Amino acid sequence: MTTNNVIHQAVNYPHFNPEQFRSYFPALTATDGEQTVYLDSAATALKPNAMIEATTHYYSHHTATVARSLHKDALQITANIDHARQQTADFIGAIDSGEIIWTRGATESINLIAQSYARQILQPHDEIIVSDLEHHSNLLPWLIVAEQTGAKVVKWSIGEIDLSSLMTPRTKIVAVTQMSNVTGYCPDLAKISQIVHQYQAVLLVDGAQGVVHKPIDVNALSIDFYLFSTHKLYGPTGLGVLYGKKSLLTAMSVWHGGGKMLKRATFSGFEAEDPPYKFEAGTPNIAGILGFAATLNWLNSLSIWEQAEAYTEKLADYTRSQLAKLADITFYSVDKSPIIAFNIADIHHNDIAVLLSEQNIALRTGELCAQPLMHKLGCHGVIRISLMPYNNQQDIDCLIAAMQEAILLLK
Ligand SMILES: Cc1ncc(COP(=O)(O)O)c(C=O)c1O
Repeated sequence: MTTNNVIHQAVNYPHFNPEQFRSYFPALTATDGEQTVYLDSAATALKPNAMIEATTHYYSHHTATVARSLHKDALQITANIDHARQQTADFIGAIDSGEIIWTRGATESINLIAQSYARQILQPHDEIIVSDLEHHSNLLPWLIVAEQTGAKVVKWSIGEIDLSSLMTPRTKIVAVTQMSNVTGYCPDLAKISQIVHQYQAVLLVDGAQGVVHKPIDVNALSIDFYLFSTHKLYGPTGLGVLYGKKSLLTAMSVWHGGGKMLKRATFSGFEAEDPPYKFEAGTPNIAGILGFAATLNWLNSLSIWEQAEAYTEKLADYTRSQLAKLADITFYSVDKSPIIAFNIADIHHNDIAVLLSEQNIALRTGELCAQPLMHKLGCHGVIRISLMPYNNQQDIDCLIAAMQEAILLLK
């Protein structure tokens, strides 16, 4: 029995075959050079063949932009992009594909909401509640708009303070993650949504990590704004998805100005297009959108979601138990999470990263773009391993062996 089989056979996964899943990723099957053990998927995920081929196919066989020219190829690409929008809406439970906006990533999506929604509605002394688990991308846009409007950002210490006790008639927006990129904690979105809407406030959920591991239904949860970056979900870099309820998008002011976001323009003004187009000035990331559509097709065709997650949880258990045997380790992540953040007593996190990199092990160390959360955890940085269903027990055994050596060197 190979080490991988221990995890594989421990639980019955009739539809999920870990070795077959690995075979979809050229980075894991390359035979030239040294193979990297990739444990940094929360930063960006490996890409499956389906995504790479769709992107390459566009650049090799199509020379056409979208929603502009009338030649055959351009019309085809426009139809494909419309279809991708519908696929994305279906994927997150949005009712209408017009509620899906293409952006450059999660960060741009939140900035768009801060500037086009929040800036328009916030009055001095209004409040934006932001959880203390957030990535800087879901904090700084709110600090910026608070400064612009005289509103206030209120910290919500999740797990310590009940959201209801912070809500006031001045609360206009609550911004929270679906899954922390440091602790892996997943807030109870159904409960949060109920509280937020009791106060007629608006809920924004950062799905950058959560979308990868937890199915989401934005409509069932009545989430007002939801966003993620496609590169963490096996998709291309430079592309983000922003969902917004149609009524909110319609009332919002425009974001960037440029081609295709308008109905009429003169030197004295312009009339904006309807959503989603009014938020999509300029040529979009066409190859990226087509690549992401192929990613979704591939994911849907596998329909392995629950079993892949069960497998990853088992692998996370194994990882934590092996790490715990190594040294005096402090874990910061919740049990079973595919994100495992920790520190080793008396060893700097970055020293570990450098030594592991020499052994072709890729992981992330540092503040993970979450300085306020680091303060809460009482550290200046962490070591983070992030798992995906393409990881296996062999990866973890390599990691542990390399860490043993590194700890011997550093202690
Ligand atoms: C929870 C969370 N939100 C937002 C982001 C920002 O994503 P991007 O840099 O792709 O815009 C990240 C990236 O790590 C993240 O983990």
